[in-house]
Amino acid sequence: MNNFNFYSPTYFSFGKDTENETGAYVKRFGGHKVLIHYGGGSVVRSGVLDRVKASLEKEGISYVLLGGAQPNPRSGLVYKGIELCKKENADFVLAVGGGSVIDSAKAIAAGVLYDGDFWDFYCGKSIENALPIGTILTIAAAGSEGSPDSVITYEEGMLKRGASGDAIRPKFSILNPALTQTLSSYQTACGITDIIAHLYERYLTNTKDVEVTDRLLEALLLTMIHEGPRVIANPDDYEARANIMWAGMIGHNNACGVGRSQDWNSHNIEHELSAMYDCAHGAGLAVTMPAVFTYVMRHNVMRFAQVAVRVWGCQMDFEHPEVTAEAGIKALRNFLNSIGMPKNFEELGAKEEDIPKLVDVLCNGNGRTGTISGFVELNEEDCINIYRLMV
Ligand code: NZQ
Ligand code: ZN
Repeated sequence: MNNFNFYSPTYFSFGKDTENETGAYVKRFGGHKVLIHYGGGSVVRSGVLDRVKASLEKEGISYVLLGGAQPNPRSGLVYKGIELCKKENADFVLAVGGGSVIDSAKAIAAGVLYDGDFWDFYCGKSIENALPIGTILTIAAAGSEGSPDSVITYEEGMLKRGASGDAIRPKFSILNPALTQTLSSYQTACGITDIIAHLYERYLTNTKDVEVTDRLLEALLLTMIHEGPRVIANPDDYEARANIMWAGMIGHNNACGVGRSQDWNSHNIEHELSAMYDCAHGAGLAVTMPAVFTYVMRHNVMRFAQVAVRVWGCQMDFEHPEVTAEAGIKALRNFLNSIGMPKNFEELGAKEEDIPKLVDVLCNGNGRTGTISGFVELNEEDCINIYRLMV
């Protein structure tokens, strides 16, 4: 196991009706004037936003509203949010929504305390300072409620890039699984796929002897395989949604990723798809993961065979471990298709003729010089081949 530091100071409040305590948590973490950030309106329609506002009012905390964060959140609204916070002297940013709203809120919170352009953070500068952030999560997916990361799309050139720093880990996150019951089954499945990807991308490691994190990741994958179909069959299954929601948080706050190298090439390759076609991140991953895994499988066949046996229940073929490894990838693909996720470029709305453009943006610029690193270092030709596997 590699040396590591792990700092995860987020306070979690989990369960039914917990959003009604938002005001008390903002107070506890020092907020007096809050920017409430939300998305395209789901939290207005569901009544969550009204409950959050009432909770702030009960504590005598004033607020200003900024809606409109889009899936694959954009830089334009971040600039607007930074200006609004400065004008209104907001000292706390509250995200009510999914990963996109939370990531946009994190970018605003970091940008307010920075003299330069907030996009510097998405070009490699580490985030050292940010206004305190709280979240009320409405979809189990990105894991941003417990992560030190934010992913934003820069509108000029549609560059989708991530930034990181412990300063943007939320001070508190409110996780009420019942709030996810208003999701469409497609969005629910996108979230399930993203969580599975976060587990797989950690599982694909070059570090030896990481039994504890391997086993944690396997347990979370098994949970997703068990609970995913249950919640797709019955969207009102609170217990299944509760298990998925907590798995999504543990899967991405890095408790099960510390001390080991990680992959993230499926995410990098997917981010170009959601940047270019504005598809849902989880849907993009459903198409990307099987292609990437098939392409890099021979780098460590036994790792793929291990997950195939331990998670997907495949028979180990000791003479031909690649057969077992392939069976595991096939089981993953079938599972994702069974919950309604797309299989290929066409179902995603992507076009084969765009592959050179996708690869160029993926492999060059923003610190990248022709390759992307992860479980296997991939050059432009590799990435072209991987995208072709998705057609
Ligand atoms: O905008 P509204 O109206 O709220 O609708 C959203 C949106 O259309 C809707 N939704 C959310 N909760 C709902 C709901 N609809 C009905 N009922 C509810 N309870 O769902 C749609 C998707 O929301 P979004 O926030 O985009 O989903 P998700 O949480 O999957 O976030 C995706 C973004 O997170 C990034 C992705 O790249 C993508 O941009 N990621 C962020 C990470 C991080 N910060 O650590 C890591 C991830 O790997 C990921 O890359
Ligand atoms: Zn993701």
